[in-house]
Amino acid sequence: MSFEHLRSGLGIGVSAPRLSWTLPGHPLIQDAYELEISRGRDGETSCTGRVSGSEQRLVAWPGRPLASRERAGVRVRVWTDGAPSPSEWSEPGVVEAGLLEPCDWVAAPVGAAWPEDAEGTRRPSRVRRDFELTRPISRARLYITAHGLYEAEINGVRVGDDALSPGWTVYPQRLRYYTYDVTERLSLGANTIGGWLGDGWYRGKYGFDGGTRNIYGTDQSLIAQLEVVHDDGSTTVVATDGTWSAAPSPITESGLYEGEIFDARLHDPAWSTPDRPDADAGWTAVAVRQRDVRTLVAPQGPAVRCTEEVAPVSILRRDGGRLLLDFGQNLVGRLRITLDAPADTVVTLRHAEVLEHGELAVRPLREASSTDVYVSDGTGPQTWEPRFTLHGFRYAEIDGWPTAQLDPGAVVARVYHTDMRRTGWFECSDPLVNRLHENVVWSMRGNFVDLPTDCPQRDERLGWTGDIQVFAPTAAFLYDCAGMLDSWLVDVGIEQLPDGTVPWYVPVIPGEPMWTPIQPGAAWGDVSTLTPWLLYQRFGDADLLRRHFETGKKWVDLMDRLAGPTRLWDTGFQLGDWLDPAAPPDDPASGRTDKYLIATAYFAWSARHLARIAQTIGEDLQAHRYKTLADQVASAFRARWAHPDGLMRVDSPTAYALALQFELITSPAARKRAGDRLAELVLADDAKIATGFVGTPLLCDALTEAGHIDVAYSLLLQTQCPSWLYPVTQGATTIWERWDSMRPDGSLNPGGMTSFNHYALGAVADWLHRVVAGLEATSPGYRTIRFRPRPGGRIISAKARHETPYGTAAISWELVADTLNVDVTVPAGCTAELELPGQDPVSLAPGTHHASARISAGTLSPALAGEAC
Ligand code: BGC
Repeated sequence: MSFEHLRSGLGIGVSAPRLSWTLPGHPLIQDAYELEISRGRDGETSCTGRVSGSEQRLVAWPGRPLASRERAGVRVRVWTDGAPSPSEWSEPGVVEAGLLEPCDWVAAPVGAAWPEDAEGTRRPSRVRRDFELTRPISRARLYITAHGLYEAEINGVRVGDDALSPGWTVYPQRLRYYTYDVTERLSLGANTIGGWLGDGWYRGKYGFDGGTRNIYGTDQSLIAQLEVVHDDGSTTVVATDGTWSAAPSPITESGLYEGEIFDARLHDPAWSTPDRPDADAGWTAVAVRQRDVRTLVAPQGPAVRCTEEVAPVSILRRDGGRLLLDFGQNLVGRLRITLDAPADTVVTLRHAEVLEHGELAVRPLREASSTDVYVSDGTGPQTWEPRFTLHGFRYAEIDGWPTAQLDPGAVVARVYHTDMRRTGWFECSDPLVNRLHENVVWSMRGNFVDLPTDCPQRDERLGWTGDIQVFAPTAAFLYDCAGMLDSWLVDVGIEQLPDGTVPWYVPVIPGEPMWTPIQPGAAWGDVSTLTPWLLYQRFGDADLLRRHFETGKKWVDLMDRLAGPTRLWDTGFQLGDWLDPAAPPDDPASGRTDKYLIATAYFAWSARHLARIAQTIGEDLQAHRYKTLADQVASAFRARWAHPDGLMRVDSPTAYALALQFELITSPAARKRAGDRLAELVLADDAKIATGFVGTPLLCDALTEAGHIDVAYSLLLQTQCPSWLYPVTQGATTIWERWDSMRPDGSLNPGGMTSFNHYALGAVADWLHRVVAGLEATSPGYRTIRFRPRPGGRIISAKARHETPYGTAAISWELVADTLNVDVTVPAGCTAELELPGQDPVSLAPGTHHASARISAGTLSPALAGEAC
């Protein structure tokens, strides 16, 4: 049993959470279900009775809505496959509402009363309060958030294991709070609660060229409300108010880009316990600030957490006693160090993704200094990890380590990202392709840190709309990112300008000079239509479409106005086929495909999707209106950019890929000609990549559907630069921003933006899943699935597995001589079609199935046909 798109039902922000369950064992189909809700201290229960139907996904809450703080257990039993009696009841899923009403909040933001934002006084603070509990404790919850970032402690013990909370949302409108069960942290008698604070996105320096400070405010404040329910039903509330005190933190500097300085000499480890020796020295009354509590919202997705620890694979000693550590993997996180150093020892940790001339290559980080410093107090062995920063790195340099050797385990890299459930896997017979796929997974992990970012290392790390627009199909296979992206799309809607312009990145940094004023741009703004639709396709949540419909509509209406009666969007600033390898390093928008061809293509595609969305949510008039618009734009596109025979006026792979995949060329003959020309162009370029952000995600599908899957395989398997596998041959462990972020001679691309961890060009993984392995959703939420393995290139086996909303779907195929052997798994509640080369599709019921097909040379790509025969 699960609730909305959350991994835990604690602190849910809706009073009627939708319910989902999966069927264990091997039933084929659910005929009916019964839900039981038990709530209250005396276990009051309500039951739906038997409800006919196969729905088991996001089923409406069947009872009285939850009140704030109300807890309920929900269990389900099902009737399957015509059986007369139901299953056993499931284990109950537990859901507990957070603070649903503004009047539930009594906490106010509190922080240091000294000037916090003058030069030289930006040292973070800690706040705390002592309190007594005189009656036995039945349960306790901490509802908490901050202006800035927080970590809470109660009686000396950390609360929760989330990091960088409350994440980054458009704070003035939406500030997330988190709910923790802290029952076990409290004791009868004296207790202390405290909060560490950091600048984070709220008031840290963020953005380009030195960044903007105090984006949302100048204060660092904690907003916390501890609610203790006693055995007798009475309640004690300890909320942030004027009774709290503040003191400067042993974190003397902290920034997401800059890193953190921690001076252990300034740290009293007992600071958040009631029995600390020197009770209040240095602590002064807090300043109490304002917050509109109507803006406090519960999370829609998981928090950021450490999900893995990585040990160094090599440690080299450099001049001056510096240590260079290689973690073997470009990752996003921070180092945890364990050391026993004399007092005043200063240990400096620097981070970089790559080396240049054997040293950390820090130029690509631009102004993100990514340096952590630990100053020892000499009191014996200590373990330390920074709290309010994050770095993108494979290599770290440590200066000032107290001993000549590093003990095993003394330094470990901790990987952080939004703690989504992994749902997708892919593997094939080609090790380079497997590494490419692994790199995509790592780039997703590194850039799904509360919001979907472009890159995790330099002074940027922004929610670029175009990047996630192209990557969302891959992301939605690999991880359950529905809740996280749904939440971020709410922010997209908030940041949308009144005229419909969707910002380049969300949240926006107001007044940031490089991207102000905000202008509408194709492929980036289309996140507002294409991404909700994609999430609906993969997760089957139509409410999500309703939630974001207005944003998409305003976007399409804006394009409509910009294009005017010609239906051609041919004005204004555009990023075009960003990072087409033909564009000069310092002008990535100047690719070979006309920007306005791209703009009109996306206009048509967004209008088409808006029509589909409208249809799905029952807005029939709107559906008709936007379908008509889409048809008109497509026909204007053809007249302006295509010849009647299917050849394009811009002879570039991206132009053909757009025309084919966005259904802009429609006649079969013209589509054939366009597909053939696309294949010719790719082959003429020796199957090297000639596309950027816009063309790359479409290319392999366009070739496949045009009957040139062999050419798609040639592109996939190319190792010369530019290609997907070129970085792999250079030892890449994540997807690079540029096709040649590192050049064949080992030098770094001189462009100002050269990241080694950008997921956008990894969008090809979606094709690996759907086409190479052959696992594709054909109706929302994978209720129906198509398995269609497509051997090609030198790949002789592949497999993919996806935890669909209904359960596991999987395919594994292998080519043995001239026989293709296939095993598939269809989840309970779903149906599938299996299409094998040279055979008619067959329908499959839930369960596992084996099939095989004789492959004749004509049904395979030439390369493979040679091998198979
Ligand atoms: C980012 C990109 C982004 C682009 C658009 C870059 O700096 O890293 O991924 O989409 O700017 O201009």
